[in-house]
Amino acid sequence: MEKTVLSVENLWISIRQDKPVVQDISFAICQGTVLGIVGESGSGKTMLCKAILGLLQHQSSVAVTGRVLVNGKDILKISARELQSMRGNEIGVIMQNPMTAFNPLIKIGGHIIETLMAHRTISKQEAYATGIAMLKKMNLPRPEEIMNSYSCSLSGGMLQRIMAAIAMASSPAVLIADEPTTALDVKNQALLLDEIEKIKNEEKPGIVLVSHDLAVIARIADEVAVMKAGKIVEQGQIYQVFEEPVHSYTKELLSARLMGGRRVRC
Ligand SMILES: Nc1ncnc2c1ncn2[C@@H]1O[C@H](COP(=O)(O)OP(=O)(O)OP(=O)(O)O)[C@@H](O)[C@H]1O
Ligand SMILES: [Mg+2]
Repeated sequence: MEKTVLSVENLWISIRQDKPVVQDISFAICQGTVLGIVGESGSGKTMLCKAILGLLQHQSSVAVTGRVLVNGKDILKISARELQSMRGNEIGVIMQNPMTAFNPLIKIGGHIIETLMAHRTISKQEAYATGIAMLKKMNLPRPEEIMNSYSCSLSGGMLQRIMAAIAMASSPAVLIADEPTTALDVKNQALLLDEIEKIKNEEKPGIVLVSHDLAVIARIADEVAVMKAGKIVEQGQIYQVFEEPVHSYTKELLSARLMGGRRVRC
């Protein structure tokens, strides 16, 4: 039996005392397993990811209750300092917009070396060599050139794969990917999904993958949770939920995708 790396228990999130945007969400993810999260816009998917990353509990306007256990440690209870270290070491993240994730004034090599040196006791030269190896592993061509480039000269698809490589630099137990393919064209979507699949099979983190695209979820995820208005309305093994959906909202999502050539987003 694989180890549970992420466990979310009875998570509630409210902003400025309004109606909760996440309501009583619970799930657990084992090593090497991908949980896909789908749901309409505004259903709370990003807020859930932010809570797992520990980005919400220190905000005065946000109330978060419940538990978010990463390798058994409750993200919601630890100090800001411990959180900082966990975010780099035990939780990796691939964000939606690769263009804003990189400082445009720092070369990609600078980003990679800084991340590696923050997590490992290695020299700058060793970090450079490791960076090159990481980029090669992600099938990125001409890694030396990439190390020497600024983000503005690389495509969104390449930046997204570089972000995946950086996210995995410290072999985190949990990887959060919130709509990682949304800003990419079809070819780059496929390349990034190849990389995520490789990460899943080789490094085996527990992965939370949020996507509007049911085809993305169907390709990568083992389990799926369907969110609506802050709640998980249906959750199970991917084949089970996609082949025999029980909740009317899940049926609606699936038929929207199957019926309308244009309605591929839920
Ligand atoms: N900073 C904020 N202040 C107030 N309300 C917010 C804030 N951020 C998000 N919300 C609200 O929280 C709810 C959940 O938003 P969230 O971004 O998690 O949705 P989502 O499922 O990720 O949507 P999308 O698919 O469009 O990315 C929404 O009703 C949104 O309006
Ligand atoms: Mg979102």
